[in-house]
Amino acid sequence: MSSLARSRSQVFGEIRKELYDDHEFRQVTHVFVIMGASGDLAKKKIYPTLWWLFKDGLLPEETYFVGFARSHLTMDDIRAASLPYMKVKDVDNERLSAFFQRNSYLAGHYTEGESFSQLQSHLNSLCHGTGANYIFYLALPPTVYHNVTSNIRQHCMSNKGWSRVIVEKPFGWDLQSSEELSAHLSSLFTEDQIYRIDHYLGKEMVQNLMVLRFGNRIFGPIWNRESVASVVLTFKEPFGTYGRGGYFDDFGIIRDVMQNHLLQMLTLVAMEKPASTNSDDVRDEKVKVLKCIAPVALHDVVLGQYVGNPEGEGEAKLGYLDDPTVPKGSHTATFATAVLYVHNERWEGVPFILRCGKALNERKAEVRLQFTDVPGDIFNAQCQRNELVVRVQPDEAIYAKMMSKKPGVYFNPEETELDLTYRSRYKAKMFSHYSFTSVTVTVYRRGNDKCSTQIT
Ligand code: NDP
Ligand code: BG6
Repeated sequence: MSSLARSRSQVFGEIRKELYDDHEFRQVTHVFVIMGASGDLAKKKIYPTLWWLFKDGLLPEETYFVGFARSHLTMDDIRAASLPYMKVKDVDNERLSAFFQRNSYLAGHYTEGESFSQLQSHLNSLCHGTGANYIFYLALPPTVYHNVTSNIRQHCMSNKGWSRVIVEKPFGWDLQSSEELSAHLSSLFTEDQIYRIDHYLGKEMVQNLMVLRFGNRIFGPIWNRESVASVVLTFKEPFGTYGRGGYFDDFGIIRDVMQNHLLQMLTLVAMEKPASTNSDDVRDEKVKVLKCIAPVALHDVVLGQYVGNPEGEGEAKLGYLDDPTVPKGSHTATFATAVLYVHNERWEGVPFILRCGKALNERKAEVRLQFTDVPGDIFNAQCQRNELVVRVQPDEAIYAKMMSKKPGVYFNPEETELDLTYRSRYKAKMFSHYSFTSVTVTVYRRGNDKCSTQIT
């Protein structure tokens, strides 16, 4: 039986066994601190993921969750904000109460040492002074990473266990600020305490790109400029950035999505075969691709900002500038398309078209390779170009658009699809919920090669 066809409980059983065979994880108290607990990432992804891990028994028994942000909130407020994203079934209600009993929230200031001393006292109280392992998740705008990490280092390190920091993208604002952030973090923490996260690398179909390319003979010979006409990488969301102006307006869609999620996917499509699936080998091949990409020409970029739809309902009525958290007259882009070229022997001349936007017509993330025309046409121009599509979300799928003879008493070519839709091929639906979970498991299991490939 293939590993993908195994049931969810089999897979989780194995992970659970691995966790619980490890003495440390069974015995030691762990505290997961969500910095920016009042925000969009926290409610949509972090609290739901912690809940799923807790519900499925994938966390060490003595695990607590502490939210921290400036807003004066209660745990009930956090619970109400996160619940719509937690997919709780009636049968899980008791477990849900147990989860929230492990949660607490503290209001404080990112720049004030005093707030972090209070946080430390709170963390101490959870482990009754016996020591614990701490994970600090920066679900915050990068503009406050410097202060927050300095304060964590100064006031909140665990003295009897380990402390780790998870840093969200975008990693800085430009090359200089990214280098400054790296230097700053390495002045505070050792490399194995720092986790840089791009959650798209935890998505099932993004991980599948490597298997698809390097685990099949059929794609290798056509995966190059001789056969590929263009590669389109798309990210679309049907909702805007309402309430996120505090973060989003300083960064815009290029730094929020294009330079991390879409570029990560681009490198997985364009890179040469790595020496192994080990994370360092994969990283090395990705870096080679990035080094071959020339600066993007201005005439190869289109930017836009969404406006309200007067006929829409609720939030759809509102344009980007109608959000009170967005500065008046902001020119921040919420939509961007850019054409990149990878100047190497495999890809010279092939456009890589990156498209991303908020408040668009649908939710979609996909990679689409369009192949060149078949030379020497004998079908009177009736053939469409082949396309290979890897749909990351929603509804994970890989499909190839191809020509086939129209069935019956015809001899005409007709476009059809070779379709691997995960929903119908793999019944167990463990894919989409767990893009954050896989990364979170990695946090616990760093050093285990099987998992660490998901961290960049
Ligand atoms: P939010 O705008 O929701 O900000 C998170 C929290 O940070 C807010 O609740 C607010 O808390 C505080 N905050 C906001 N703006 C400022 C500011 N200018 N100065 C100080 N504190 C501020 O952003 P997100 O949660 O969407 O994003 C946070 C990080 O997570 C970003 O780096 C983003 O790239 C990343 N991310 C987001 C995802 C998402 O789905 N939203 C997914 C993956 C990554 P308070 O005022 O209470 O202190
Ligand atoms: C985050 C961006 O990195 O990814 C958000 O900051 C975006 O703006 C989110 O909404 C999308 O993630 P997903 O997993 O819902 O596609």
